[in-house]
Amino acid sequence: MITSRRGFLRLLGAGTTAGIAMPWPIMAASRAIAFEPPAQDDGFIRLNNNENAYGPSPKVEEVIRSSSAGANRYPFREYRWLREKIAGVNHVKPEQVLLGCGSTEILRMAAFAFLGRGKQLIQASPTFEAIEHYARSAESEVVSVRLTPAFAHDLDGMLAHASASNTLVYICNPNNPTASLTPRKDIESFIRKLPGSTFVIIDEAYHHYAGQSGMYASFIDRPLDDERVIVTRTFSKVYGLAGLRLGYAVASPKVILQMQKFATEASINAIVTQAAAAALDDVDATADFIQRNTNDRQEFFNQAMARAVKPIDSHANFVMMNTFHPAEEVIEHFRKNNILIGRHFPALDTHVRISLGRPEEMSAFWRAWDTLPYPKHSMQH
Ligand SMILES: Cc1ncc(COP(=O)(O)O)c(C=O)c1O
Repeated sequence: MITSRRGFLRLLGAGTTAGIAMPWPIMAASRAIAFEPPAQDDGFIRLNNNENAYGPSPKVEEVIRSSSAGANRYPFREYRWLREKIAGVNHVKPEQVLLGCGSTEILRMAAFAFLGRGKQLIQASPTFEAIEHYARSAESEVVSVRLTPAFAHDLDGMLAHASASNTLVYICNPNNPTASLTPRKDIESFIRKLPGSTFVIIDEAYHHYAGQSGMYASFIDRPLDDERVIVTRTFSKVYGLAGLRLGYAVASPKVILQMQKFATEASINAIVTQAAAAALDDVDATADFIQRNTNDRQEFFNQAMARAVKPIDSHANFVMMNTFHPAEEVIEHFRKNNILIGRHFPALDTHVRISLGRPEEMSAFWRAWDTLPYPKHSMQH
């Protein structure tokens, strides 16, 4: 079974590069692996993929059940009505919206539309790795610039690498895995200084958890009127639909058409379109999920503080913290306690990422934390 996103992406990569040259028995075997459903009843507490531990909402669940009757039909559709709905919510034109099988597909489309041999992706380190994987598949160079000591994107450092041939910058805000913000005004002035031919993706997967502040404003809600800016969002987080796969991009109509050429045929399933529409309508549930996350995050920080541990300030539905011990060892300790926490991010070798779960799951997490075989003072700041 493929247990990690990285492993799954590696598998996808292997399939892409080997392509039709692969002898059919191997192809058949890897397809079988790729399509094996994840075991949800294996007893593990899942604090590893930044999902909504509560969702989807009861109304959305009902829509999922009632729309499954059409599952025998291919979804050969453009879903204009859903693009219109998403456009309406975001105050943009339907032509500015592109749907994808998760925002991961949007990132793939962007990589293949704007990258290729002789071009560069500029990204932070550490950050969400999907686009790096696709950039490498497209034979692009990847430049990773370490986050600042405050865990913001080092925009000056990124700018120093940008030239006319550097065509795509990836900014994840709030950033995965650090849950940290890069100030809005800094991103704005960074974009203004970039060469005219450089496109910027702003990944707002965790937008709903960031709140409104002087530090943060979405580039969909407060657009820059700049054709080079592509914003991505997902239904996998606050809406609780990670298993059904839907994400979208908002960009200029011209850029949307450029990316759409690389879409997979019929990749948007008929059930998720109904579920996503219901999730957008269920504004009370969304507000409730945001509030629960705020409470769960606060409780996490209370528990951490009681142990004199200081996590990175979180603006998302997960938390990263320094354990001052090899992350792999800490991850393994939790696995032995039937708890899956985030994967190892080599750029932060002693940090671990914990997705917020339900209260009882978080109690289990802290019980396991308290049995880590390290002297207490060695994990404190
Ligand atoms: C920052 C970020 N972007 C994109 C994604 C991909 O989300 P999805 O493909 O489920 O929409 C994730 C998933 O964890 C993420 O953390």
